[in-house]
Amino acid sequence: MNQKTWGGRFRGDTDARVEAFTESISLDRRLYRHDIRASQAHAHMLAEVGLLTASEAESIVAALDAISADIESGKFEFSIQLEDIHTHIEHALIERLGDVGRKLHTGRSRNDQVVTDVKLWVRDALDALDDRLQQLQRALLDAAERNRELVLPGYTHLQRAQPVLAAHYFLAYIEKYQRDRDRLADCRKRVNVLPLGAAALAGTSLPIDRDSVRRQLGFDALAGNSLDVSSDRDFLLEFVFDLSVIALHLSGWAEEWVLWTTTEFGFLDLPDAFCTGSSIMPHKKNPDVLELIRGKAARVVADLQQLMILVKGLPLAYNRDLQEDKAALFDAHDTVAASLELAAALVRESRFRADAIALRLEDGYLDATTLMEFCIAQGVPMRAAHEAVGKLVRLCEERRCRLAELPPDVYESVCPGLSAGVYKVLGVANALAAFRSAGSTAPAEVDRQLALWRQRLA
Ligand code: ARG
Repeated sequence: MNQKTWGGRFRGDTDARVEAFTESISLDRRLYRHDIRASQAHAHMLAEVGLLTASEAESIVAALDAISADIESGKFEFSIQLEDIHTHIEHALIERLGDVGRKLHTGRSRNDQVVTDVKLWVRDALDALDDRLQQLQRALLDAAERNRELVLPGYTHLQRAQPVLAAHYFLAYIEKYQRDRDRLADCRKRVNVLPLGAAALAGTSLPIDRDSVRRQLGFDALAGNSLDVSSDRDFLLEFVFDLSVIALHLSGWAEEWVLWTTTEFGFLDLPDAFCTGSSIMPHKKNPDVLELIRGKAARVVADLQQLMILVKGLPLAYNRDLQEDKAALFDAHDTVAASLELAAALVRESRFRADAIALRLEDGYLDATTLMEFCIAQGVPMRAAHEAVGKLVRLCEERRCRLAELPPDVYESVCPGLSAGVYKVLGVANALAAFRSAGSTAPAEVDRQLALWRQRLA
């Protein structure tokens, strides 16, 4: 007998090249646990509505557990002749149970089965990713607290701009990863809608109870249109988009830290265990992990492109093209999951070179904007203050000095009376202390945010 589940209509064997070209088992075997879980719920439901006897359902559920154990222990044999994980498991079931096994696929198609499995898998992945993001946020928060006294130059255009507390810097990424977590939670709502029961495309004439399966598998709702179900990969586009944003966040941070470990910056020491050396240059310590976090973000974004192009122009309902979704899904997921774990470890174990940072902190006029704001507070119109401070910076460049080193008469010439208070806002420490707006790097504001996040991430 032809061992294909659809063999009845066919004469002779499938061409071996076709089997190799059309298989998906090499990728979708990762879904086995979810496939079995969904099949067990389906079997229970079939018994509830009288399409299986209670003892048939029981033996199916038990046999599926045994198959799961075989797969886990490596005893299970995979073959491209059985195409995908769904066929493998059904085939193994029939080998064990004969005709009872032949009843499991009642009222079900691989078309709704595969989306159900993928949704169950994505749901687990979403929860695990949320956990990894939270670990990273905690590592960032610890680093923020560990470096609470450290002041960093803040940059725009990668040019020195204004001083920021290192804690403020770490809190910035905590915010980004929180939005990433919120996006995943939002995606989960649409993932958690049950496809199973749509059958091939139109539903079934058999008296199935989709709500029973929904309850058993913990879905929030039933997909409302059977035609929509098997062609729906929106949730994968969303999921991989969300993964792409995480990868992009990681890549910007990785680039920052690659720069900060250079001799030119000298801000940061990475742990040896996370760096590699050069086969020819004995002194090298390279930030490969950061470089690869940056580099692998390209793969994740490419995976998103692949999925979007995959669904473009597909007519309703199921089309075999959709089988190609797994490669992009798994690759994007695995890449981001690994990157998040390594990023958290790097944040935990890297150390700032506070002395080296402090040594050059007064370079680059980080206090210029605060000086301008001080002039504004004295009544100088903003544009005039901007112009005047710009000229003072020019003067400093000529004299090779800092703003704090200009004599009082220079400040008096900008605005009479200015010299009285101006030295209290000049210099990085003073400039930093002068901030006050909500969400700013003002020390009190940063402390408030640290306490808030300590609570939220507890
Ligand atoms: N291997 C297929 C996939 O993963 C299973 C669904 C096949 N359905 C079909 N009608 N041929 O998408």
